[in-house]
Amino acid sequence: MTAADLTDIDLQSDAFRQDPYTAYARMRAAGRLVQVNVAGQPQWMATRHADIAAALKDARFGTESELPSAQWLQAVPEPIRVLHEMQRRWMLFLNPPTHTRLRGLAHQAFTPRMVQALEGQIEQRAHELLDRALAQPVFDLVHDFAHPLPVDVIAQILGVPIADREAFARWSVQLGATLDPIAPDEVYLRGGEAAMGFSAYMRQLIAQRRGEPGSDLLSALIAAEQAGDHLDEEEMIATCVLLLLAGHETTQNLIGNGVHALLRHPEQLLRLRQEPQLIKSAVEEMLRYDSPVQCVPRLLREDMAVGGVDLPRNSRVWMLIGSAHRDEEAYPNASVLDIGRDRSHLAFGAGIHFCLGALLARTEAQIALRVLLERAPNLRLAGGADPRVRPMVTLRGLQSLPVAP
Ligand code: HEM
Repeated sequence: MTAADLTDIDLQSDAFRQDPYTAYARMRAAGRLVQVNVAGQPQWMATRHADIAAALKDARFGTESELPSAQWLQAVPEPIRVLHEMQRRWMLFLNPPTHTRLRGLAHQAFTPRMVQALEGQIEQRAHELLDRALAQPVFDLVHDFAHPLPVDVIAQILGVPIADREAFARWSVQLGATLDPIAPDEVYLRGGEAAMGFSAYMRQLIAQRRGEPGSDLLSALIAAEQAGDHLDEEEMIATCVLLLLAGHETTQNLIGNGVHALLRHPEQLLRLRQEPQLIKSAVEEMLRYDSPVQCVPRLLREDMAVGGVDLPRNSRVWMLIGSAHRDEEAYPNASVLDIGRDRSHLAFGAGIHFCLGALLARTEAQIALRVLLERAPNLRLAGGADPRVRPMVTLRGLQSLPVAP
């Protein structure tokens, strides 16, 4: 069987970005595996919930980052080499046993006990941000609330000074853009420069912490390195950068996309105000309805059939989480926002790469939403036109969301 050719759809087009869900419906109708374009290059996409849920738990679908040849690395500009050196140490792109070792070391900061201990601080920070935002007649929910809240939380977990937030937020955006299936050279170059800036910054911080350890994750990783736990400084830097990046871009998008969805469905917003005990299930529905991570890549580790199509080893297949979440086979009335739905989803992935920060993200979003609704009883959209979506394929989030309190 061959895959349906839908290469008239380009995931990097403006039309797709503003409304991916119509295109996903077409893809699902066309087949379990389809070919679409990303920046003019054909890519395999798995479209259905059942296939994606199974693939994410199947060891034959690897996440090994393509290791470029030494020759290639010597030929590319230095920032791109540094970017590759960093990304090939991200647990996200590694298979066991290296994946298991790095994940095990970082896991200590994200246990239920650790996350629970942060709840009070998250709530206090949410209030502080809203004190400032709500003093204005219109504020940008993304810039003034959804962005700084998770950045401050992850910076605190790691032990990175919050005063440097602007710098690592900028680096994170540049690095986040390199997660896209195909990006222009310019994106990789800027991502590489961010990797260089981030590395130099973390190296300096590590040197400082070696002399004065704290109770943060960075100090714990240094202790692990010193105890001979097979963690070198490059891995430590890569892990911290991954956590900073993963820890805020996605949570920012969850809060931004989620509040946007509620404001566009006033009956759901009203229901949440009347039944605040639905907050947990509302956040789960936001994760399903407009997922912060729309797709994740997998590399086939052997020749095999995917969605009924035979593909050779090393083929790259994108798992369209955003499409899986609108699959009627998995979710009746999938395109309807229903904060009482309370169904499991794939927004945090599945299998060995299941999101390390899922509990933290859920906790942050629940607190953010609860405090926002309490503090802004008349919250409404203020922008007029539809808010612009950020120009990325893998991560989905709004550039800004003007609201009136
Ligand atoms: C992995 C989504 C928040 C850290 C993942 C994956 C997804 C995801 C889909 C799996 C990627 C794959 O299978 O290729 C999200 C979403 C979030 C969120 C939607 C917020 C709403 C966070 C936070 C942190 C974090 C707050 C940490 C501070 C990670 C890490 C991995 C990961 C380290 C890699 C795990 C591994 O490879 O074993 N996330 N994430 N994420 N996430 Fe998250």
